[in-house]
Amino acid sequence: MRLSRRFVEPSGLVPATLVVMTDPRSPGHLIRPGTVADIGACLALWVRACTVRDGQAVSGVAERARPKLDRPESWVVATSLQGVLTGFAVATAPGSGIATDPVDAAVVGLLAVSPSAQGDGLGGRLLAAMTDDLASRGQVRAVLHVLVDNHRAVRLYESQGWVPWGEVFPHTLLGRPVQSYTLDLARA
Ligand SMILES: CC(C)(COP(=O)(O)OP(=O)(O)OC[C@H]1O[C@@H](n2cnc3c(N)ncnc32)[C@H](O)[C@@H]1OP(=O)(O)O)[C@@H](O)C(=O)NCCC(=O)NCCS
Repeated sequence: MRLSRRFVEPSGLVPATLVVMTDPRSPGHLIRPGTVADIGACLALWVRACTVRDGQAVSGVAERARPKLDRPESWVVATSLQGVLTGFAVATAPGSGIATDPVDAAVVGLLAVSPSAQGDGLGGRLLAAMTDDLASRGQVRAVLHVLVDNHRAVRLYESQGWVPWGEVFPHTLLGRPVQSYTLDLARA
């Protein structure tokens, strides 16, 4: 089940048509638009999820993520029924990524699920909500960059129809190989 179309306004305001939904694939989590009030919790979750993924805290992770939350084209957050942040995804406008990105592709720059909530379908649900929202905004394509050794994320993207784009290149902060992936939003 996906969210209704057009549910995150660029201003961060919630339109009257917003539907906050639960889903049988990840019961106990609600998905709604992100707002400026969520920035701190999203950054903390991002650092926590990357620390668990990488097996160590890497300095600069929060600073690299922060600007993406200042100019979201689409931003969805998941919370527990008590309102605690359990995951989020952020995309920025075409042209905001790297030189090799397709010029018409919105950039999915951040996707994270709280380590204690991973493996239960929430990441897939957030990604699908985000690509639905991007399509509803008239975006035709999306791009993202994933560490080749991030097998969980790679499997998630490929299962939702994302396909590799271009050559593998080193991550600017971590030095590990990165592969870009794109998704045709008209066909997703
Ligand atoms: C990537 C991330 C968002 C996925 O969230 P999640 O809630 O665990 O995702 P899902 O439960 O929807 O599962 C994703 C897929 O990984 C698979 N998976 C689970 N554990 C796995 C493992 N150890 N190895 C390989 N695949 C695995 C799941 O089976 C699922 O695949 P499927 O849809 O084909 O069944 C989460 O792991 C995370 O926050 N990682 C740290 C931050 C990060 O690296 N983000 C991605 C940046 S590009």
